[in-house]
Amino acid sequence: MSEDFKPLMSSRYGEKDSHTIAVAEKLGAYRVARRALTMMRPEQLKEEVKKASLRGRGGAGFPAGIKWGFLNPGEGEQVYLVINGDESEPGTFKDRTILNQDPHRLIEGILITCYAIGAHCCYVYIRGELKHSIDILDAALAEARQKGYVGERPFGKPHEIQIYTHQGAGAYICGEETALLNSLEGRRGEPRLKPPFPAIKGAFQQPTIVNNVETIASVPDIIEMGGEKWCNLSRLAPRDGGQRLYGISGHVKRPGVYEAPVGITMRELIDVYGGGMLNDRPLKGVIPGGSSTPILDPNRKVEAPDEEHPLHQWHGMSEIDVPMGVDTYRALGTMLGTCCAIVMDDTVSMVEACRNLMRFYKHESCGQCTPCREGGAWLVDVLNGLCEGRGTEEDVHMLVEIGNNMMGNTICAFAEGTAMPLLGLVQKYREEFVAAAQGGEPLITRHDDSTRRQFQGGQA
Ligand SMILES: Cc1cc2nc3c(=O)[nH]c(=O)nc-3n(C[C@H](O)[C@H](O)[C@H](O)COP(=O)(O)O)c2cc1C
Repeated sequence: MSEDFKPLMSSRYGEKDSHTIAVAEKLGAYRVARRALTMMRPEQLKEEVKKASLRGRGGAGFPAGIKWGFLNPGEGEQVYLVINGDESEPGTFKDRTILNQDPHRLIEGILITCYAIGAHCCYVYIRGELKHSIDILDAALAEARQKGYVGERPFGKPHEIQIYTHQGAGAYICGEETALLNSLEGRRGEPRLKPPFPAIKGAFQQPTIVNNVETIASVPDIIEMGGEKWCNLSRLAPRDGGQRLYGISGHVKRPGVYEAPVGITMRELIDVYGGGMLNDRPLKGVIPGGSSTPILDPNRKVEAPDEEHPLHQWHGMSEIDVPMGVDTYRALGTMLGTCCAIVMDDTVSMVEACRNLMRFYKHESCGQCTPCREGGAWLVDVLNGLCEGRGTEEDVHMLVEIGNNMMGNTICAFAEGTAMPLLGLVQKYREEFVAAAQGGEPLITRHDDSTRRQFQGGQA
C-alpha cells in the first residue's frame, strides 16, 4: 500500500454509526450533491464522469459515461435509474459493504446521477437475502427524505427525485440487468432479448440506466475531484480510471474488502492486502472476479512476444503479475468481473472445485435457453462421474465440447459465465481432470482444522 494512498469509497467505513445521516454529513456526505444540483449543469456532470473512465463495477466493465450517453428519450418518455444491488455472484461481497457502512454515499451518487441523466425516479434492486442491508438503506432513505434531499426539491432544486428499494427473491439470474428489470416489474426474472437495450427500452419500457451500486457510489468523488484527477488515481489511466473495492476470500490470512487503485496486481492483492497465503501454503489458482471469471494459474507465464500485444510489457511474467484491469484481464483471457478474488491453495482439487461451481450454475439457470439449461445439468453429471471415480478420459473432452456449445448461443451472458470458468479450469489443470478419469479414487478437497477456524473468524 502506498504511503500517499487515500481511501475514498471506504473513507467512512469503521466510523461509529457511519450509516446514519448525522455521522455521514459530519464526514462530508451530501456536500457534492448540493453543489452539483445547485451549481452545475447536467452536461457538465456527464462530462466529468466520461473523463473519469469509470468502468462499470458490476462485472462487464462498460464505461459509465458512455452508457449514460446512449439515452435519447422521446417526447413524453420518463428516464429511470436502476441500481443493481443483487450481488449474488459466488465470491462477491463488496456492494453490501457500501449499503451497510455508507448508504448515504450511494444515495448521494443516485441524486447526482438522476439529475445528470434527467431521471426523477430510481429503484435500488437488492437481493432478498441481504435483508439487513435493505433495512439500513431504507432507514438512510427515510433520513434523506426527512431532510428534503430526496423528494420534490432536493437542495431546493426543482428536479424531483424519488428513490425506492426493491427486494429480490434470491435468484442469481436477477442480477442480469434485463432479468432484474422483469423482476422489478413483477414478471418472471428471465433475461430479455437485446436489442433494444435498457437505455432505449428498460424499466416499464422507458429509457433506463442500470448501474452497479459501487459504480454509482463512485460518482460523488468523481464530481468532487474532477473526472481527470480521479481517473489518474488508477495505475491504468486513462482507459480504466480511479480506485475501486477489491474483495478477497479463500485461502488467505486476511479475507475481506479493501480499497486500492485500479491496476494493482493479483500478487499484491493476495500478499499485501490479503496478508499472504493461509498457513503459508503454495497458491494453486485464483478465480479473479467472482465465480464466472476464468482462473489464473500463478505458474503460467504471460505469452505476449509480439510488441503490439497489449500485455507485451508483462511477457514471460506470471499471470498474477499483470495489473488488474478490465482490458488487461480481457487480454489475458480472463475477466476482471466484480474484482472479488477466490484464492485456492494446493490442497484444493480443481475437479471438485469445478463440480462445486457447476452445481451452482445448474441450479441458477433460468431455463429459457436450451444450451444453458441442458448444458449446465450435463456438466454436473459428467463432473459427478469424474469426482466419484466413474469417469473416463472421453469425459474430459466432453466437458470442453459442452462448454464450447454453451458459448454465444443464448439470450444472456449466464451461459458464458458458466462455460468460461469451466473451460479455464479444464485448460489450465487438464492433467488433474485426466488423472481423476484414470485414477478412480473419489476426490475430496482436504481442509485441515486450522483452515476451517480461519474461515469462521475471517472478515468475509
Ligand atoms: C448472470 C448475471 C448476473 C449478474 N449479476 C450482477 C449483480 O449481481 N450485480 C451487478 O451489478 N451486475 C450484475 N450483472 C451485470 C449486469 O447485467 C449489468 O452489466 C450491470 O448491472 C451494469 O452495471 P455497471 O455498468 O455499473 O457494471 C450480472 C450479469 C449476469 C449475466
